[in-house]
Amino acid sequence: MNVTEVLQCADQLVFTKTGKHLDDVQKAVVTGVYQGKTYDEIADDCKRSESRVRNVGRQLWQILSKQLGEDVNKYNFRSTIERIYVKSSVSGVGNNHNLNFCSQTLYQPHQDNKQNQPKSKPRSNFHDLTLAPKITSFYDRTTELQTLSHWLSDQNVHLVSVLGLSGIGKTTLVKQFVDLNKQHFDVVIWKTLKLSQSLDNIIDEILTGVKDDSIQTDNKLTQLFHLWRQQRCLIILDDFQELFIKGELVGEFKTESKNYQNLLTMIANIEHQSSFILISQEQCQEMVSPDEELYPIKCLDLQGLDTTEIVKTWGLKDDECWTELSDLYGGNPVYLKDIASLIKSIFGGKVADFLKEDSLVVTKDMKSRLTELFKRLSSTEQEIILQLSKFDVPVSREDLRQSLSLSSMDLMNGLRSLGQRYLLNRIEGEKVLFDLSLVVREYVRTCCQDSY
Ligand SMILES: Nc1ncnc2c1ncn2[C@@H]1O[C@H](COP(=O)(O)OP(=O)(O)OP(=O)(O)O)[C@@H](O)[C@H]1O
Ligand SMILES: [Mg+2]
Repeated sequence: MNVTEVLQCADQLVFTKTGKHLDDVQKAVVTGVYQGKTYDEIADDCKRSESRVRNVGRQLWQILSKQLGEDVNKYNFRSTIERIYVKSSVSGVGNNHNLNFCSQTLYQPHQDNKQNQPKSKPRSNFHDLTLAPKITSFYDRTTELQTLSHWLSDQNVHLVSVLGLSGIGKTTLVKQFVDLNKQHFDVVIWKTLKLSQSLDNIIDEILTGVKDDSIQTDNKLTQLFHLWRQQRCLIILDDFQELFIKGELVGEFKTESKNYQNLLTMIANIEHQSSFILISQEQCQEMVSPDEELYPIKCLDLQGLDTTEIVKTWGLKDDECWTELSDLYGGNPVYLKDIASLIKSIFGGKVADFLKEDSLVVTKDMKSRLTELFKRLSSTEQEIILQLSKFDVPVSREDLRQSLSLSSMDLMNGLRSLGQRYLLNRIEGEKVLFDLSLVVREYVRTCCQDSY
């Protein structure tokens, strides 16, 4: 076991017993004792007094003893946790990070897995990118590519979510990453949940694609985890928001998709050498880690492009106005492509003339994308966004509260949910202020007044 696994295991035991995760001093005690250090040395490491560390240790052993039904102390902690780890399995059913000690194990270290070993070794270098788009032009995003590479190649993070507004470039970024890095993975599979949302089908397709022999009909999850341990797999699930219910607050899984929640929990918790990238317009709870050190899962929130290259490729004029144009549309590449084509056909490519227009132009394509997003909002979020669109400047929660008949809790939940859909800007200052992007505001003002 490495230290991260020891910490994860101890944290799950403590969490199951107390409902609380390990704090910094408890983590230092677990790490130090596992490494055979004295309380004195641990106190030095974590800059606390020796008596404090000893006290924390004593309480920790009590919690672990109660949880495991056997005496755990400083001297037997290492052997106990290693024994427990070998016996344990992770059960994701409905619970985050819940260790379930049972005899029917899903996870056991490699040497214990003989009876569940697949008969044949999976094919190496199986790349199925049939459903991924072909990238013809790609600008900017150097930092984002580096971040993905750091997480997935250097840190072996098991679960990475790439999140952001529709059209902002999530799918394009991930495909570019895959094109540049696929040689580092034995298996790369791209699935889009717009086409099929059945987890069973997806698992079947992965196993059928990778394995040379026929798949066993039972224990498919076990076979999948064997695969993830044996081979370095990268599995991309695009359009993950399709699994969430429309008309509710963000990230609520549809009943028939709840099995994905368990899968995500297991991907994050179980030891293997593979990674998942989830691409989504909306965030859900399972994408965020309660403690990044223990459960290394990451989110990349994508902002607009920081370049005017897209405008340039359309051969538009007035290059001194391109940045202004890009800012108006939040650097959203899909909006920029659309507006560049409109400027070319209506204004003869003259960006300055277009910018002289009184109001921001929301094209037919932008409207239809935003209408799709708005259909997904809960009634509380609709109320908030409608109200926000009436302001020309950012507003505080208190101001919004006065102008809406929502309870404080509904307002907070609604604001958070809109933020997790990337429809709301948050401006930090003395007071936190909220604002809509220019395109969203214009869309709500012109297209939504009657529908709410
Ligand atoms: N970095 C980029 N360089 C050039 N073009 C880009 C870039 N990012 C996105 N685009 C273009 O913008 C369009 C939208 O990008 P993409 O499909 O990746 O968005 P998305 O965030 O996945 O949207 P959705 O949530 O609707 O699936 C594509 O046509 C793509 O070519
Ligand atoms: Mg996409």
